[in-house]
Amino acid sequence: MVRILICYASLSGNTKEVAEMIQSRLVREHFQIELYRIDSGMIPDPSQYDAMIVGTYTWDKGSTPEEVKDFVYEIGYKPPNVFVFGTGDTQFGGDLLFCRAAEKIAKFYNSRYKPLKIEQSPRGSQEVRVIDWTEGVIEQCLHCLIK
Ligand SMILES: Cc1cc2nc3c(=O)[nH]c(=O)nc-3n(C[C@H](O)[C@H](O)[C@H](O)COP(=O)(O)O)c2cc1C
Repeated sequence: MVRILICYASLSGNTKEVAEMIQSRLVREHFQIELYRIDSGMIPDPSQYDAMIVGTYTWDKGSTPEEVKDFVYEIGYKPPNVFVFGTGDTQFGGDLLFCRAAEKIAKFYNSRYKPLKIEQSPRGSQEVRVIDWTEGVIEQCLHCLIK
């Protein structure tokens, strides 16, 4: 069974919603999922999972939230299979700063899969983007395990 750790940071709930959508799609695939809200207690050990998915909102002119930086520091190493998603708002600096934190985290972890970037809430028309991206994660995970 594929084991995936989903870690996300969320203040007003958008990133949490995306995390939960990803979780329910992966559960349907019979993947074993642990959902962890960053800053909510002991960090699960990523080495116990086949892949880690990290979700973050973006703050303050394209910044990564402090709790996400702390999380990355606490993890202390770069797990091999990391997938990243983020929520943001183009009103805060247009395309240049949109979901910059997700881009930075994906780059830091050398993620081989493009980060998912969602404008605010994933509900409605963007839901399909979350599902499509998660299908790609499923493919990548199965590929990693076969290798
Ligand atoms: C003060 C402030 C600054 C923000 N700066 C950015 C930004 O630079 N880039 C971006 O894409 N979104 C920015 N946002 C939008 C949030 O990232 C967006 O609302 C996100 O969905 C919040 O996630 P959450 O509901 O999970 O907390 C900012 C929001 C606030 C309130």
